[in-house]
Amino acid sequence: MADVEALKREAGIEACKFVKDGMKVGLGTGSTVKHTVIELGRRISAEGLNITGVPTSLATEKLAIEVGIPLVELSEIDGLDIVIDGADEYDPEFQLIKGGGAALLREKIVAQESAAMVVVADDRKRVDNLGAFPLPIEVTPFSHEATVRSLCRLLDCRVNIRMAGNGPVITDNGNMIADAHTGPTIDNPIRTEAEILLIAGVVQVGLFNNMCDAVVLAGANGVETFVNPNGRLI
Ligand code: 5RP
Repeated sequence: MADVEALKREAGIEACKFVKDGMKVGLGTGSTVKHTVIELGRRISAEGLNITGVPTSLATEKLAIEVGIPLVELSEIDGLDIVIDGADEYDPEFQLIKGGGAALLREKIVAQESAAMVVVADDRKRVDNLGAFPLPIEVTPFSHEATVRSLCRLLDCRVNIRMAGNGPVITDNGNMIADAHTGPTIDNPIRTEAEILLIAGVVQVGLFNNMCDAVVLAGANGVETFVNPNGRLI
């Protein structure tokens, strides 16, 4: 466990090399990117780094304020230079599953507004086929049982509303998370994303297709950066 935490820290800090003075930076959510947020705060106070951040969750907002990153609302600015975020899985085409931390809607909005997306991860997140990690889908509380049934029919798998103690997890947007246990069978994530989004009760799905430009990956051999050959950092 300590080793995984060390890997997350290494990846999170290394990804800060993409952040330059004057940038507007999307700040992702999770236990890996939290190290990026802390390091950016350190650089602001130690080196006078001048950046503005947009957090992807209330948890990240709180951390960013604690470490001294100036924040703005996405609506106040015309796009971001970069977003750095975690992922639950990524495949050889740099397609992602995200939402393990229930922040997928804000994460996707921020990613769409960013000129580049860098993912920070440890090497457990690299997969050949997406789906071993249950696919998070944000759904409206209204008639969520019907939405879950539709998702089961579409994906032909078990779908559960994510729980925290006795009640459902409620996202920062007041919605619920349905986790779809597809198994590692998502071989056409673009089609799967489009099909899921056709269900009315679905707010957003944690498939992030054609968004990730680089993965900063920490593993037994140290930290490596893999740049998407079809991405925007080439
Ligand atoms: C939150 C996310 C996270 O980025 C993802 O779950 C990875 O988190 P961690 O770095 O803690 O493994 O998508 O919604």
